[in-house]
Amino acid sequence: MRYYITTAIDYVNSRPHLGTAYEKITADVLARYQRGLGNEVRFLMGNDEHSQKVAAAGRKEGLTPLEWCERMEGVFREAWSALEIEPDVFIRTSEARHRTAVQALAQRIKDAGDFYEGEYEGWYCVGCEAFKREEDLKDGLCPDHAARKPEWLKEKNWFFKLSRWSDALKAHYAAHPDFVQPDSRRNELLALLERGLDDISVSRAGTDWGIPFPFDSRVVVYVWFDALINYITATGWPVDEAESAKWWPADLHLVGKDITRFHGVVWPAMLLSAGLPLPRKIFGHGFVNSGGGRMSKDAGRVTDPLELSRTYGVAALRYYLCAEAVFGTDLDFSEERLLARANSDLANGLGNLAARTAGMLVRWREGVVAAAPASSALLARADAAVDTYRTCMDALDLRGALAAATLIVTEANAHVDRTQPFAMAKDPARAAELDAVLAELSNSLLLACRLHHPFMPAKMEQLHLELTGLPLDRSSSIRTARGARIAAGTRIAKGAPLFPRIEVAKG
Ligand code: MSP
Repeated sequence: MRYYITTAIDYVNSRPHLGTAYEKITADVLARYQRGLGNEVRFLMGNDEHSQKVAAAGRKEGLTPLEWCERMEGVFREAWSALEIEPDVFIRTSEARHRTAVQALAQRIKDAGDFYEGEYEGWYCVGCEAFKREEDLKDGLCPDHAARKPEWLKEKNWFFKLSRWSDALKAHYAAHPDFVQPDSRRNELLALLERGLDDISVSRAGTDWGIPFPFDSRVVVYVWFDALINYITATGWPVDEAESAKWWPADLHLVGKDITRFHGVVWPAMLLSAGLPLPRKIFGHGFVNSGGGRMSKDAGRVTDPLELSRTYGVAALRYYLCAEAVFGTDLDFSEERLLARANSDLANGLGNLAARTAGMLVRWREGVVAAAPASSALLARADAAVDTYRTCMDALDLRGALAAATLIVTEANAHVDRTQPFAMAKDPARAAELDAVLAELSNSLLLACRLHHPFMPAKMEQLHLELTGLPLDRSSSIRTARGARIAAGTRIAKGAPLFPRIEVAKG
C-alpha cells in the first residue's frame, strides 16, 4: 500500500513560526504512522516562491528573488530538521520540473476551453496573494492583513471558468463525504458551492517573477494557480508518467483552514478541467492562536518553535501540539500548558515508567526481562489500546490516539502502585510473581514506545534501543505493535532519564 501526504507549501517571506510548524509536525506524525504500518510513504513539503511578498523580502536585503529563495530554502530545511520533520520530497516552485508541470497543466486547461481573456478590475491583497471582493474587506482593509492596504488592480488577465465546475464539484462532494474534513470545513465549502462559483483571474501582468503561460508569455501564472500544481509536480508528472501514477491522486492534503477553499474548490476544478483524478482527502486544520488571534508574522505575533524546542525539547513540543487540542480545531498557544504537559505526561508519566521499570530490573534482575505472562489483564488492555490508537490515527484524531497511548502508561504506573514490587523483592518466595510484574511493565513500555514513536521519534528510538537492544523498525513498528513482546532474556539498558523534569525560571 502507498500513502501520499502533502502539506501546504510555505511563503518564504519570513522564517517558519509555531503556526506553520504545527502543520508540518502534525503531517510528519501522520507520515511516520503510515510508515509504521508498513506503507510506502511519500511525504511532500516545500516552498511557495512566486509570491510578490517573497520578492519584496528579497529586495529589502538587496537580493534577487531567486537568491533570496535559495537562502530561505536553507532556513526552512534547517528548521524542519531541528523539529524532527522528515519529508521524503522537498519542492520549490522555481524548479524547472515545476515550471514544466505548470505549463503542461495550463495547456490542458486551455485545450479544454476553460481559459478566456478578460479584464480584472478590483482589489488584490498581497498578504493573502488573493483577489478580493468588496464584501471580503472590512473598512477597506483585509481582515487578515490590516496593516497592508489592498491594491486596486486593473489588468488584462486570463480567467479560469471555475463557474463551469460547480455542479461537478457538488456531485463529487456528495459521492465522497470524506473529501473535505473536518465536517465544519466541508459544510463551509458546500455552502459556497450552493451559492455558485465565479470565474477567477489566474494570471498577473507587469511582473516576471513567476511562470509564463505557455500560450502567452507576456503574463505569469497567478501564484495560487502555480502553487497548487506542486502536489502533482512532485509525483513526476507529466514527465515520468509511470512514477506519477504510483502516487497520484494524493491520499491527503493537509492545509490550514484559511486555505481549504483553494484546495477544496479551485484545485479540484483545475484537475477536473485537465482530466486528472482528484485527491482523496483534504483536511483543514485549525490555527495556533496567540494573544487572542491567529499567530502570524503580519499580526506581529509569532513564537519561534526552535527556541521552544531548546527550552522544552523537541519531543515535548511535538507532543504538546498534538495532545492539546482536537485536530481540526484551534489551539491557543500557552507556554504554561506546554510546560505542564512536559512535566505531567512526559516526566511524571512516560519518563517515570521508563526510569522505574529499568531501575527495578537493574537492581533485582541485572536488567534481564523474563517472558511476559501469557495471560495478563494489563497487557490485554495495552493491546486493546493499540487498536483504539490505530482507529484514531486512521481518522486523523491525533489527540485521541495520544490518549490511547497515554492510557498504557497510566495503567502501568498504577500497576506498580497496586502490585508493590518493592514488597515482592524482599520475599524470595515471590520471585516468579516479581518477574511477571516486571515483564508486564517492560512490555507495556514497549507498546507505549511504539505508539508514541510518530510523535517523538528520536526519544522513542532511544527508548526502544534501551528496552530491547534493537533499533526500532520504522517500517513495522505500528503494524506489529499489538501483541509485541520483548524476547525473554533481553537485558535492558538503563540510560539517562528520557524526560527530566523541566524547571523554567519565570521572569
Ligand atoms: N503558500 C500558501 C499555500 C500554498 S499551498 C498550494 C500559504 N503559505 S503560508 O506560508 O501562508 O502558510 C502555510 C501553511 O501554514 C498554511 O496551511 C496555513 O494555513 C498554515 N498556517 C499559517 N499560520 C498558521 C497558524 N497560526 N496556525 C496554524 N497554521 C497556520 O498559505
